[in-house]
Amino acid sequence: MAKQSWKPGNMLYPLPVVMVSTADKEGKDDIITVAWAGTVCTNPPMLSISVRPERFSYHMIRETGEFVVNLTTEELAFATDYCGVRSGRDVDKFKETGLTRQKADLVKAPMITESPVNIECRVREIKELGSHHMFIAEVVAVHADEKYMDEKKRFDLNRAKPIVYSHGEYLATGRKLGTFGYSVKKVKNKRKKR
Ligand SMILES: Cc1cc2nc3c(=O)[nH]c(=O)nc-3n(C[C@H](O)[C@H](O)[C@H](O)COP(=O)(O)O)c2cc1C
Repeated sequence: MAKQSWKPGNMLYPLPVVMVSTADKEGKDDIITVAWAGTVCTNPPMLSISVRPERFSYHMIRETGEFVVNLTTEELAFATDYCGVRSGRDVDKFKETGLTRQKADLVKAPMITESPVNIECRVREIKELGSHHMFIAEVVAVHADEKYMDEKKRFDLNRAKPIVYSHGEYLATGRKLGTFGYSVKKVKNKRKKR
C-alpha cells in the first residue's frame, strides 16, 4: 500500500491529555488543557508541558514556577475539552465546569479534586522552542484517589477510565493487552486438569 508523504508536523499520537491547574502570586487560578506533555526523567521524577506564551495560564506558570498536572478520565472529558477552548481571561473555569479546587501540599496552584491523580510540579528549566515554551519540571508530590485502589490496595488507574488525545479526538482506553515485560515472561508449564 502506498504511503502519502506529508509536510513536517506533529503526528506523535495518541498522547495523554491533562488539565494543568495554575495560580498567580495573588491567588487567581486557571486550568489549561495540555496535550503536549510527557514524562522526561525517572529519577528525579520529571515531566514537561509545552505552553504557548499567549495562553492566560502561561504567565502564572512563568511567574510562580509551579503547576499541577491533573489526569483526565471519561467522566472529565467534557471539562477537559472546555478548559482547552475557553480562556481564563474570560471565564472562571472551576465555576463553569463545576470542578472542585483542592489545596495542594507544596505548590500554590490548586489541584482538581475530581481528577484521579494530581501531580504537583516545580519548574526547573524553560526552553523557548518556538510557538511553545517547554516547562521542564520536577514532580514534588503525587496524590492518587483511594477510590481506585483494588482489593490488594494497589492503585488501578484503569478503574478511573483514563482518556487519550489522538489526532483531534478524545478516546477511551482500558482494554489491557499485557503487562510490562509480558513479551519475555516465561509461561508457567501448568498441567491441564482433566
Ligand atoms: C485537546 C487539547 C490540547 C491542547 N494542548 C495544548 C498544549 O499542549 N499547549 C498549549 O499551549 N495549548 C494547548 N491547548 C489549547 C489551550 O488549552 C487553550 O488555548 C486554552 O483555552 C488556554 O487557556 P488559558 O487561556 O486559560 O490559559 C489544547 C487544547 C485542547 C482542546
